Amino acid sequence: MPVHSFILNGKRVNVDCADDVRLLWVLNDLLGVYGPKYGCGVGVCQACTCHINGKAFNTCSVPVSQIKSTDQITTIEGLAASVGKPLHPVQQAWLDYDVAQCGYCQPGQIMTAVAKIKQIKAQGRAVTDADLDEIRNVCRCGTYPRIRAAIKAASTKM
Ligand code: FES
Ligand code: FES
Repeated sequence: MPVHSFILNGKRVNVDCADDVRLLWVLNDLLGVYGPKYGCGVGVCQACTCHINGKAFNTCSVPVSQIKSTDQITTIEGLAASVGKPLHPVQQAWLDYDVAQCGYCQPGQIMTAVAKIKQIKAQGRAVTDADLDEIRNVCRCGTYPRIRAAIKAASTKM
């Protein structure tokens, strides 16, 4: 089988699997990285959200063959190291606002939030309710009000 190579949380990884295996299953089943979660498998729930070169994407929807050897994939496990701190400001805000309930959706929520805040900051403006309305991550526990408050708080610290 072909070998696929990319940078995962700052370290090069090589995986031997078929071209059409989606990245989520490469992470979960072949690399033992369990932060990205399987919810729907069809690009709807966003539980599997990670970053590719700093942008949020659904790992359940991308075959590993589409990942280039130079691509930097960041999962929730590598998020804090990306800012050189014990916790990323968004993770700290999640604790401060006691966001999680069952927790299943939360890695994806946080990865989406980080990318969203960065995108808005690059435009030189503050996070608005309209920005938060664009987030499509599903939370079956209904933690949305706390997610919104934590994102607004974290955005002032990034
Ligand atoms: S598992 Fe990827 S979007 Fe639902
Ligand atoms: S915290 Fe339970 S699904 Fe979001």
